[in-house]
Amino acid sequence: MTDLATGPGSNADTALLTAAGDGVNRRLSDLLATGANGDPACYLADPDAARAVDSDPVLYTAHRDILPPTRALGAEWFADLCTYQPGQLPGGELNRSIGHWNTPAQLEVFEVLSGRVLMITAWHDSSGSPVLNWQACGPGDLVAVPFAAWHQTSVLDGPAVVFNIYTDLPGTEQQHTSRHAAQHAEIKYRSSARVEITAIRSATGFTLTGSPRGRDHWGRGVQAVEPAWLREAVGSDGLVALHTSGDQLSRLVDAARAHLPQAQPWPEGERP
Ligand SMILES: [Fe+2]
Repeated sequence: MTDLATGPGSNADTALLTAAGDGVNRRLSDLLATGANGDPACYLADPDAARAVDSDPVLYTAHRDILPPTRALGAEWFADLCTYQPGQLPGGELNRSIGHWNTPAQLEVFEVLSGRVLMITAWHDSSGSPVLNWQACGPGDLVAVPFAAWHQTSVLDGPAVVFNIYTDLPGTEQQHTSRHAAQHAEIKYRSSARVEITAIRSATGFTLTGSPRGRDHWGRGVQAVEPAWLREAVGSDGLVALHTSGDQLSRLVDAARAHLPQAQPWPEGERP
C-alpha cells in the first residue's frame, strides 16, 4: 500500500491515483452534445468554431470511484479523480469540464494534485442575488462547492490532476442524490438551466466571459481564495488521506454546515 500520509498534492498522491486504471474520456463532442430537450449540455464561448473542427480531442479523463467509498456519519462518501489536458478549445476558450449543478445536500470538496485549474462557481445567495466566483488553484489547493451551486473546472496549466470527494448530507429534501446524478448524465448535465459563463485565454492568463444574458445575470465575477475553515477541516495530510481514513469527516461536515453557502433556487421568472 502506498503511503498516503505524505501531504496534500504530493507526488505520491498523484502516482497512486493516476496509476489506478482507465477512466471515461470526455471529448469536445461531449461539450457540444444536446440533451433530450434539445438544449446543449453547456454554454460554449464559440460553439461554431468548436463544431467546425474535424478532430474530437479528449479534454479530460474522469476516474469515478478512484478510491473505495468511505462509510461515515451515516452516509457513503465517494472519491473521483479527473485529469485535464492542457490547451484551448477552438475559439480560445480554456479546456474545461462540462460544468453542472450540485444537489442541495451535496458536499463536494476538490484538491488539486498537479497542474493549475480555474474553478468557477455560481449560485444564488439567501436573498436570491446571483454570485459568481472564480478561484485559481495549484497543487494542494482546496475548493468546497456551495450546496446546490453550479461549478466548472477550466485548465490553466495542464495536465492538471484534480481529486474530489462528495456525499449527500442528511436532512435536506432533494429530487435525487448526487450519486444518482453522477450515474446519469442526462440528470447531471442537462436537467437544469445552463450557466452561460466560461473562461477564455487572455494576456493575463484568462478572462471570464459569457453570453450577453449570462454576463448580465452573473456579473463580472469575484475572486475567491481557499477558506481557512476548509484547510483546517481537511487537515495537513490532505483530502486523499481524509477520505481514506474517514476519521475526521465529521470535522469537515461541521465546518461546511457552519461556513458553506446554501444556494437558493433560481429566482422565479428569471430562469431561462
Ligand atoms: Fe459537482
